[in-house]
Amino acid sequence: MIKLPVYNTMTDPSSDQENIICTCTGTTAAKVNQLIAQGLDDLDKIASATGASTGCGSCDIIILDLLKKPVHKPQK
Ligand code: FES
Repeated sequence: MIKLPVYNTMTDPSSDQENIICTCTGTTAAKVNQLIAQGLDDLDKIASATGASTGCGSCDIIILDLLKKPVHKPQK
């Protein structure tokens, strides 16, 4: 089941790591968080790595929100 990005004050699409936050590219919150943990620290870097934000741009606010959150490095 594909989850469409919905962002408002009542929902937080980034809370579900497998949630697709960019429907234009199929980029998930997990992928963006992985890149942030690897040191990609702004929207342009995330966009270059995933293509997210390079289509309609409606996912920008979600990616910017993820960039503000503390980095959670994957556990081994
Ligand atoms: S939803 Fe990300 S560029 Fe369109």
